[in-house]
Amino acid sequence: MDQAQKKRQAARAAIEFIEPGVRLGVGTGSTVNLFIEELARVRDRIAAVTASSRETEQRLKAAGFEVAELAETGDLDLYVDGADEANKHFHLIKGGGGALTREKVLAAASRRFVCIIDDSKWVAVLGRFPLPVEVVPMAQSYVARQMVRARGQPILRKGFVTDNGNVILDVHQLSITNPPDMEARFNQIAGVVTVGIFASRPADVILMAEDAGIKRFDRR
Ligand code: A5P
Repeated sequence: MDQAQKKRQAARAAIEFIEPGVRLGVGTGSTVNLFIEELARVRDRIAAVTASSRETEQRLKAAGFEVAELAETGDLDLYVDGADEANKHFHLIKGGGGALTREKVLAAASRRFVCIIDDSKWVAVLGRFPLPVEVVPMAQSYVARQMVRARGQPILRKGFVTDNGNVILDVHQLSITNPPDMEARFNQIAGVVTVGIFASRPADVILMAEDAGIKRFDRR
């Protein structure tokens, strides 16, 4: 099975979490795009849906869904999203698509967070994937210096502006051995809007597609 097929498998497996009357949050990325395609089959079960990015919002609308704001839906029953990396503690790196801030808000507002990945995303230690950090534009050089002090190599994502009007620093060479600690420390840096470590609010369920099929992990 190639990576695209695995992403499709993971996206399909998430459909069983869509219960009647669900208030649903939808993440961003190529795996989620496949999930949106699958979602049309269970349209009748969805009471309300909100999106983590403009791109997802457009895709949901194109699939015939009416997309609500989080302020209208209130807290969500379920959030489905991909990840750039995941470990056995259900900690994630997210933000490869630049939507990390809204993704973090939707994950925080959800009773259950189901993460859909293929097995290339599974790691023992987070940090091989450069850590996305969303930063207020005028603070970018200051935050970059703080990242260097933390032994990272920050690179500005060129020509990219987030849905919130900010920039992204992709921080290379970090070995994230204590994700909750690093998330909390980087969150404290002035000018940082969101760190792409999802550890204080980890995934509840990981559906990982591998050659042998779907592996499901449940956080206790
Ligand atoms: C978007 O900002 C990210 O957090 C995505 O969840 C992540 O990049 C996964 O994307 P793919 O499903 O395209 O690998």
